[in-house]
Amino acid sequence: ARLVVLVSGAGTNLQALLDACRDPAYGAEVVAVGADRDSVEGLARAARAGVPTFVHRVKDHSSREEWDAALTATCRSYQPDLVVLAGFMKLTGPAFLAEFGGRCVNTHPALSPAFPGMHGPADALAYGVRVTGATLFVVDAGVDTGPIVDQTAVRVEDDDDEESLHERIKVAERRMLVDVVGRMAREGFTISGRKVRFGSEAR
Ligand code: GRF
Repeated sequence: ARLVVLVSGAGTNLQALLDACRDPAYGAEVVAVGADRDSVEGLARAARAGVPTFVHRVKDHSSREEWDAALTATCRSYQPDLVVLAGFMKLTGPAFLAEFGGRCVNTHPALSPAFPGMHGPADALAYGVRVTGATLFVVDAGVDTGPIVDQTAVRVEDDDDEESLHERIKVAERRMLVDVVGRMAREGFTISGRKVRFGSEAR
């Protein structure tokens, strides 16, 4: 399966995918990496792996809609089977969803439906939950609301701060992402309502 991965930052989730894809048995290859900003480590990781990169910054387009259309067109040009948002900090728009809806996944560093949005680890700490984690879901028009593909739990330790908790979540998140994207690539998947099933009837 062909993967396009979109990043905004450090790209450790991307790196985990790039590493997994070196094994042909994994069943996927990263064919391009896109970002919404320049000079992020995620783009450097792609370049080091010999993967083509592209950047679409919102501010270089006359409107959010044009940005969305440009991002969609560039992703389409790489003919992905699956688009993976890996720490991509922008909400994709209607054009993107029309093209890639049902075959775009994202991860969120909390156990959905708890703590959606930009501050999952901090919000979990502030609330005082003792278990949080990460969620892999199929992107829809909402913020971290799409059908859940998988979740992984992480304990909150007494001395955690936002950074230590997020780092521990990210270890579990990367493992889940690599496992689940590999399965999606090898087995295909179907979505009916909010249920995501792996399986052959998918493609
Ligand atoms: C991940 O925890 C992701 O869920 C969150 O931001 C982090 C990105 O990490 N939205 P990285 O860029 O993959 O290292």
